[in-house]
Amino acid sequence: IITIWVIIISTLFIWKISCSILISFHHQLSPEERRLLDSIAWPETPHVPVPVSLNTTSDPAHSTFTILPVRAGGQWHVGDELEALIQIGDFQGRPKQYGGDLVIARLHDPALSAGVAGRVVDHLNGSYTAVFPLLWEGRAQVEVTPESMLMEHPARQSFLSLFQSGSVSETAVCNFCLPPTQPLCNYTDLHTGEPWFCYKPKKLSCDTRINHYKGGCNYYLKAKEVTLFQSKKKKKLLHTVHTDVFIFLSGQPEVKSSTVKPAPAGYYYQGAWRALGATTVRQFNDSSAISQCLKDKVVNLYGDSTMRQWFEYLNSVLPDLKEFNLRSDRRTGPFMAVDMARNILVKYRFHSPPIVTWSKFSTNELRYVANELDGMVGGPNTVVVFSIWAHFGTFPVEVYMRRLLSIRRAVLRLLDRAPDTLVVIRTGNLRTMTFMFAMINSDWYSLQRDRVLRAVFKGLNVHLVDAWDMVLAHHLPHEIHPRPPIIKNMIDVLLSYICPKNKS
Ligand SMILES: *[C@@H]1O[C@H](CO)[C@@H](O)[C@H](O)[C@H]1NC(C)=O
Ligand SMILES: *[C@@H]1O[C@H](CO)[C@@H](O)[C@H](O)[C@H]1NC(C)=O
Ligand SMILES: *[C@@H]1O[C@H](CO)[C@@H](O)[C@H](O)[C@H]1NC(C)=O
Ligand SMILES: *[C@@H]1O[C@H](CO)[C@@H](O)[C@H](O)[C@H]1NC(C)=O
Repeated sequence: IITIWVIIISTLFIWKISCSILISFHHQLSPEERRLLDSIAWPETPHVPVPVSLNTTSDPAHSTFTILPVRAGGQWHVGDELEALIQIGDFQGRPKQYGGDLVIARLHDPALSAGVAGRVVDHLNGSYTAVFPLLWEGRAQVEVTPESMLMEHPARQSFLSLFQSGSVSETAVCNFCLPPTQPLCNYTDLHTGEPWFCYKPKKLSCDTRINHYKGGCNYYLKAKEVTLFQSKKKKKLLHTVHTDVFIFLSGQPEVKSSTVKPAPAGYYYQGAWRALGATTVRQFNDSSAISQCLKDKVVNLYGDSTMRQWFEYLNSVLPDLKEFNLRSDRRTGPFMAVDMARNILVKYRFHSPPIVTWSKFSTNELRYVANELDGMVGGPNTVVVFSIWAHFGTFPVEVYMRRLLSIRRAVLRLLDRAPDTLVVIRTGNLRTMTFMFAMINSDWYSLQRDRVLRAVFKGLNVHLVDAWDMVLAHHLPHEIHPRPPIIKNMIDVLLSYICPKNKS
């Protein structure tokens, strides 16, 4: 049985960008950066009724889909493309007349542990087409898991810092952008220009700031709307509809030019990720194969907890890799592990704010990834990996774009002075939404950031681990921290870049 999952995330995006930092960011854009911004623009949604009401928001229960083309006998052949037409309805059961929703689709076969992400076209009239390449033989089922949300607040997450000197301590609100209603401490990074501010404590000076942690959330729905939304939607956030649909048999593979670009990055077959691009993914099943591949390497991992998972994975599967106890918080790091015999060093460090964590993150440990790269010699034994996305979803995309552009410049400098440095980027992925979490964030933001990431690093000599497709195509739940079988596949892709087949 092959399962098709379709997740629909309805979005009505009305940004109220009131932050002067964003406005100045737009003024500073080079023509190249402006092209980047244009290239990720979400499709125009010309007929969005204003003001937006919940009644006109997409409703999973009123959305339907059909498999196209409906063929006699319901047979498809390996090599064909399968299309599903999805029609979104609103809470009053009327078909939606405009696009802009996020539709995520997957074709899946649990018996073969096979799966592939679908590519989706927005027809901008309330209907969408999901296209799947048919890469293996089997039977099929269609599933729809819809989500919907509204959004309009520019900075939906707030932060706090503790300031301390002697016996005096104060807490202040911090963010990348704060209304100047009180005096500010300006922590803008002089090297990268990354902005960060706190309100100035009343008694203490700006240089007594000792930590960074998560404050409250600014929900973008008013209390009344939340209640309505909750009553209509609470159960539906995790609601799944599925329909048995069709069978397909193997036959002469027909090569068709896909109507949707780009093609999926790869697919699972018997639980192993197979890339559809140029790279052959090797399987590193035992620790000695991994250690052999990492011999004499310094592996620098930067980013959020999705990167920390890779450190934890390597640390757990390699018995000779010993973690040096830096007495760090287990959630935030930094971490370091060494295999003395094989001369392997694996390091992990979090990216700089925004860091959404309850852990008190010491300000002295805050480092911008671009600055870390600038402090690195690089070379054939240096591997740089980063995963920067999960903490940026609750801020305007410009904040993320600015961060990535500063990293891009540092990557270019690194590859210029040490061209054989390996740079690998782990993309973002889908996550399970709790109701309260869905009030401030969604996969829609992650997908938008994913497009920015790909656009910013396009054409550079860097490699992607396509976590988006690897999580979406897998039968395990869409968790922000993918489960070990998915991590194992991601590490296989990473190691295949470090130790490609022909060189082994
Ligand atoms: C939404 O629909 C409900 C019931 O159909 C109606 O009572 C309410 O006034 C509508 N709200 C708006 C903003 O249209
Ligand atoms: C929406 O547009 C697509 C592509 O142009 C078309 O096939 C479909 O029939 C349209 N749907 C509606 C409801 O108009
Ligand atoms: C913060 O400091 C940076 C770097 O010195 C400066 O460019 C920027 O204008 C300052 N911002 C504010 C609001 O003071
Ligand atoms: C790795 O393990 C999988 C599953 O047990 C197996 O199919 C595959 O052949 C193994 N690959 C190598 C290179 O040992």
